[in-house]
Amino acid sequence: MTPHIEAKLEDIAKTVIMPGDPLRAKFIAETYLTDYKLINQVRGMLGYTGYYKNKQLTVMASGMGIPSMGIYSYELFKFYDVDTIIRVGSCGAYTNKLNLYDLVLVDKSFSDSNYAYTQNEYNKDEIESSKKINNQIIKVAKEKNIKINVGTIHCSEVFYRDNNPFEELYKNKKCLGVEMETFALFHNANIFNKNAACILTVSDSLVTKEATTSLERQRAFTEMIELALNSIL
Ligand code: HPA
Repeated sequence: MTPHIEAKLEDIAKTVIMPGDPLRAKFIAETYLTDYKLINQVRGMLGYTGYYKNKQLTVMASGMGIPSMGIYSYELFKFYDVDTIIRVGSCGAYTNKLNLYDLVLVDKSFSDSNYAYTQNEYNKDEIESSKKINNQIIKVAKEKNIKINVGTIHCSEVFYRDNNPFEELYKNKKCLGVEMETFALFHNANIFNKNAACILTVSDSLVTKEATTSLERQRAFTEMIELALNSIL
């Protein structure tokens, strides 16, 4: 047990799928897993361990933002011997080349956050995800004819910004869009020599100001979740 996870060591699989939203973790377990059981409900951060096509895996929520993802991914890697975490989340688009519901595979997280510097004095503003897992995701996407945009994401600490220079971030840093968790996840994977990847669905656009409703989003997430699940088999 850790301060934030009540599961026993043997109740968490080596591979964890991590949505931000606890109810989405519940949805994934109920829809895709067999023989699953609830392994965490501390702070409502629901986690389930079960089987997808005979592969044991855990699906557990990260909560929103770098600090929350920072806590859960650290504890999973360090105290639960987890090898691989794949985040499945949403992002806002920084370019009109991305439409609502498009998928993004994050190969690099760019951030203005102090998380990594504060954690161990890592002093760059970019962190890469696992090439091994990404190649597997790209391979499965090809096989299943799923279009996926591979690139950098802006990992922001602030959702409600008065000024977001997103055109500059797209132009100068090649950020396709914005989310709020990858920088902590990829950093923690690196400090423990583990694997982390992230697939995102475009849920809104800072360019066109379009947004999906939470109900529509649920349906669009199906493709992304199936891609993540099939990539770890
Ligand atoms: N900003 C930050 N995080 C997000 C957004 C956004 O617009 N959309 C989905 N996650």
